[in-house]
Amino acid sequence: MTHKGCTLWFTGLSGAGKSTLSERIFDKLKKSGAKVELLDGDEVRMHLSKGLGFSKEDRDTNVHRLGFVSQLLSRNGVISIVAAISPYRETRDQVRAKIENFVEIYVHCPIEVLASRDVKGLYKRALAGEIANFTGVSDPYEAPLNPEINVDSSTETLAESEARVWVRLAEMGLVRFD
Ligand code: ADX
Repeated sequence: MTHKGCTLWFTGLSGAGKSTLSERIFDKLKKSGAKVELLDGDEVRMHLSKGLGFSKEDRDTNVHRLGFVSQLLSRNGVISIVAAISPYRETRDQVRAKIENFVEIYVHCPIEVLASRDVKGLYKRALAGEIANFTGVSDPYEAPLNPEINVDSSTETLAESEARVWVRLAEMGLVRFD
């Protein structure tokens, strides 16, 4: 396969499927021999962003750190995959402005569906008022207005969402499987 350095930035609510989809994309790229890295919000918060909370300021710091690392990687020819809620449009756009091949992938899922799935049990607690600043419940999420890729995990299968990503990346001339 051939590819360009780029950043694939997955944004969306907690539990919408960013990690699942980005891992699928990562695995296929890796198996195909691409230079690829995956930066997941949950994991990055254990080291690079250790100690940060969920205030607007801390989230913005987290997103800028992810953007900084992703810029370094993608300008060196790596496909850098980022999966983080990254709730603020302006902050995502600031990161976008610094990265040459920036692909924003909005992983949408209605809040009712997320609350009923509730894989980590966080929505139940947030809806009960036990978690302050929980994105989508007691904290804002600003959906992208014009993302390169839209997927909806409540209406599409994982395979359909994945296929949508490959089609668009090929159209953009960023990835080619021979
Ligand atoms: S971001 O807003 O800074 O981009 P990030 O993606 O790194 O967020 O982390 C989100 C994860 O932190 C969620 O998937 C969830 O497991 C956990 N989390 C804990 N508290 C919150 C909260 N108040 N709002 C959103 N996610 C939270």
